[in-house]
Amino acid sequence: MATGRATAKLILCGEHAVVYGEPAIAVPFSQAVIETEVLPTKQKTKFSSAFFTGDLDNMPPILFGIKEMVEAILKDIGTEPVLIRVLTEIPIGRGLGSSAAVAASVARALFAYFKQELTDETLLEFVNQSEKLAHGNPSGIDAVTVVTEKPVWFQRDLSLETMHFHEKLFLVVADTGIPSETRAAVADVGRLIEAQPEKFKPMIHDLGNISREIRKQLEGAADIQQVGKAMNAAQVILEELTVSDSSLEKLIRVALQNGAAGAKLTGGGRGGCMVALVSSKKQAESLVKALHAAGASEEWIFTIGEGTHESNSGSSHQYSAY
Ligand code: MEV
Repeated sequence: MATGRATAKLILCGEHAVVYGEPAIAVPFSQAVIETEVLPTKQKTKFSSAFFTGDLDNMPPILFGIKEMVEAILKDIGTEPVLIRVLTEIPIGRGLGSSAAVAASVARALFAYFKQELTDETLLEFVNQSEKLAHGNPSGIDAVTVVTEKPVWFQRDLSLETMHFHEKLFLVVADTGIPSETRAAVADVGRLIEAQPEKFKPMIHDLGNISREIRKQLEGAADIQQVGKAMNAAQVILEELTVSDSSLEKLIRVALQNGAAGAKLTGGGRGGCMVALVSSKKQAESLVKALHAAGASEEWIFTIGEGTHESNSGSSHQYSAY
């Protein structure tokens, strides 16, 4: 048997705009890890996961990206049929990059099983290919964050930089419990831009400028009120782009009413997760309670910058990315 692991990601800012070449910042969401096991099997290659178990040939459309990737890998290096078993606690379709993380963990496990070396470059190609089938027009930010496992400043086809955050910041991430419709949301933003470029292109550019402002803050002394303000401004634009929804806005409202400096959706939107910036661990803990009472299905306390590891309690988790 061989195993492969991959970590989910969290977009701090720039989602959707990143599809159009504007910068975005993403960090590995290090507690949400996907593990895949590869074992020998008889006859046909099989795939087993929370959403599907059966022959590779019968995988549902939602997994076509993974299916094609597995077929390509097996064609290259496979010498026998295998059972691919994906073990995950990452909520599927919550804007946390689970499809990219599943692809990366499967590729890593297959290469380990067949005792072949897998470079990050090759892995990135496989994950990007798989994401194209899963999401239609992915910017590549999920794949890059999942493969590098580092905080990244990403600009499609232009730049990929690893980031170092100066100050420790407390974030609270909460899941609406509603699957995010990334593919439809990305397609709809495309339609809006095509139909009314004079209205929507400047919004995409403004989202890029918000990422630039947040980068400046995170790499400097990080005034949390300024970062929060920038996050709120991003949320207003994401609402205009129709990628937010009432489930997200409810949790965002609760976060702001409970003293968060800023809050916004993260990832594809329309369900999925929101992220709020707070000023202390204590405030994060009380916000987790308020979000839970307001109906969030899961909450995590997450620190960026110089952090400490702390244990989890209840349905909320605290951990540090780096
Ligand atoms: C999805 O995690 C982020 C989006 O910007 C889509 C993409 O970049 O591919 C919404």
